[in-house]
Amino acid sequence: MTYVLGIDVGTGGTRALVVDARGAVVGAATAEHVPFASPETGWAEQDPRDWWRATTRAVPRALAQAGVAGEVIAGVGLTGQMHGAVLLDDRGEVVRPALIWCDQRTARECASITDTVGAARLIELTANPALTGFTLPKLLWVRRHDPSAWNRVASVLLPKDYVRYQLSGVRATDVADASGTLLFDVSRRRWSADMLEAMDVSPSLLPEVVESPSVTGVVSSEGAAATGLRTGTPVVGGAGDQAAGAVGMGIVRPGAVSVTIGTSGVVFAATDRPARDPQGRVHTFCHAVPGRWHVMGVTQAAGLSLRWFRDRFGCGVRSDGDADPYEQLISEAAEVAAGADGVLWAPYLMGERTPHLDPHARAALVGLAASHTRGHVIRAILEGVTFSLRDSFTILAEMGVPVHAVRLGGGGARSAVWRQIQANVYAHVVERLQADEGAAYGAALLAGVGAGFWPTVEAACDAVVQVAERIAPSERAAGTMNRQYAAYRALYPALRHVRETASRARL
Ligand code: XUL
Repeated sequence: MTYVLGIDVGTGGTRALVVDARGAVVGAATAEHVPFASPETGWAEQDPRDWWRATTRAVPRALAQAGVAGEVIAGVGLTGQMHGAVLLDDRGEVVRPALIWCDQRTARECASITDTVGAARLIELTANPALTGFTLPKLLWVRRHDPSAWNRVASVLLPKDYVRYQLSGVRATDVADASGTLLFDVSRRRWSADMLEAMDVSPSLLPEVVESPSVTGVVSSEGAAATGLRTGTPVVGGAGDQAAGAVGMGIVRPGAVSVTIGTSGVVFAATDRPARDPQGRVHTFCHAVPGRWHVMGVTQAAGLSLRWFRDRFGCGVRSDGDADPYEQLISEAAEVAAGADGVLWAPYLMGERTPHLDPHARAALVGLAASHTRGHVIRAILEGVTFSLRDSFTILAEMGVPVHAVRLGGGGARSAVWRQIQANVYAHVVERLQADEGAAYGAALLAGVGAGFWPTVEAACDAVVQVAERIAPSERAAGTMNRQYAAYRALYPALRHVRETASRARL
């Protein structure tokens, strides 16, 4: 029997997953990373060498858990946090800590990219606007603020591709991850010569780009010694965590949409064309499926809204036994009728990406009366986060992106109450999957396609992804949710007005 290995270089840790030729997970292990450093407000940096250290711990543990030797692994697929800037010198040594996806220091660089290229042209060339999380603004920041480091940079890699480099000695990336750099021509699936020239970035800094299931190289003898894998094992392109996660959920054909609620919430739609939003409110990236693209809307504080409530106001939540504190909170929300008796939550605890693209947006709880309980507030939080995700569906409809099947993932899929709220708010049947193994699973499937287990990514998904349950919206609650959504839509402009008035008052 042969197997494939998926490796997810996340933010908190690196996860390795051993998957058999029928798609069953037979071994898994995670090794934690040092938490990211934030030397100044809004900054987020990690040492790429820590990702490799975590990989060398997680892979042998996953193999041991599966009870298999590295010799039986037929292919490796990589995925991971997107957008980070890993800077290497001409000997392949790390020049400085990587600026990672959630680093927010580059507002000035984004403004300068938009000024230089022009907002409309930027969307034409890269399919996206300049956002602080993307890679190019990070490169410009280092060039301007840390010139001695920049002068030593001989190559730029994305986070998972640093692990590939250590594993195989090859500098390569895939089209899905490259899409989040703002240096990539998403329509033509190649680096954008126009962007590189406009921003004066040398093409020699960038790695080769391949489609996600294509082999980029093989595990080197050093990579094998560090991980227990076999020298010569093929390594495929893989994908950024969102595209790989979507593959793992079978979101590979137009009409298929996933909603994954983790810390952030992501609405991800597979498309057969690079559908662009002229206002750039959703990201348009290449998919990990050759010839396909995807659009993606992001709510910054989705699961985070509930965690914030639990951490700050969750007193009285029992911490005994195995009871999940989130399930306890959500059971209080289940006592309250749809609409939370008019209480609304605007989930902008961390600013917002979709639809407002406003890093300064702030959250609010609106409509409270003395009669309201904690259950009303928790229900309002669940509904508010879901309304924010519905905003992404509204944009997909404006763009003409079809939505046939909606699959739920992450923490938001684990709660029956939140699943039903999602069906009611989207006014659409939603599906829960048999297994929710995250991005590492999608990376393993991509490795399986590269290794010949399945002929295509679609065939892999058809063979292994199974729907466990379909949840239909309740007509009555969906009507209430529709009216409440109209009220929710009025929140952001009102909150913005409050913020502007308050900041004028402070002057
Ligand atoms: C995608 C994004 C996150 C990161 C971290 O645009 O910012 O998914 O990749 O997980």
